[in-house]
Amino acid sequence: MRQHIVAGNWKMNNSLNEGLKLTTEIMNMVADEVRGNAKVILAPPFIHLTQVKSLIKGAKNVHLSAQNCNHNPSGAFTGEVSASMLNSVGVEYVIIGHSERREYFNETNAQLAAKVNLALENNLLPIFCCGESLEIRESGNFIDFICNQIKESLFHLSEEQFQKVVIAYEPIWAIGTGKTASSEQAQEVHAAIRKFIASKYGANVADDTSILYGGSCKPSNAKELFACADVDGGLIGGASLKSRDFVDIVKSF
Ligand code: G3H
Repeated sequence: MRQHIVAGNWKMNNSLNEGLKLTTEIMNMVADEVRGNAKVILAPPFIHLTQVKSLIKGAKNVHLSAQNCNHNPSGAFTGEVSASMLNSVGVEYVIIGHSERREYFNETNAQLAAKVNLALENNLLPIFCCGESLEIRESGNFIDFICNQIKESLFHLSEEQFQKVVIAYEPIWAIGTGKTASSEQAQEVHAAIRKFIASKYGANVADDTSILYGGSCKPSNAKELFACADVDGGLIGGASLKSRDFVDIVKSF
């Protein structure tokens, strides 16, 4: 049975104090209000990770993710953070291949494959992002494009390794734009991703893979999106910066 997950990607937002206040508010609301099986993941900036970790320690349902890791194990890469460093401070998940990393930092499918390997070697669970630009959507080839991203970065994994991966589908044209993919558009892509995974790893693995939707997901549309058969939760950007909105999304299953 696959897991429902709501992950809050803070991106490059929040001072340390703001981040800790947000975490405390989310923790309190989750403890008071959230029932059921949705797993909550917080992905603050690197420098907040250790203190957010201290705050969430002991919380049953709140987990910690980094937003990125480097594709090299260690060395002279000034300003970068490795998967083993993330593991050493108690991080459990790492977002890999976010569209902003692909676009602004030119991350390639091959580099992302290396990041996925390092994440798994260091006991981190990858939240692997895929998704198409408006141009690719309008060309009509978006399913092939997304499947190719998954193939080139993930399909070298063994079945056991692949089962540790969470997929996040982000239509780039819907990120931070207020435009949300309709539930039909989201379902179409999520179902195609699941079918593609089944073609490589079989139906059981595909059925157990959590596929999250990311792109202007908010309390007003989360229920409809999460009701889709193949949408197992969300990777939330803007709305994860407000505790009330974020927890309302968590409660949308
Ligand atoms: O990582 C989150 C996604 O980029 C979605 O961001 O909710 O601000 O559109 P958004």
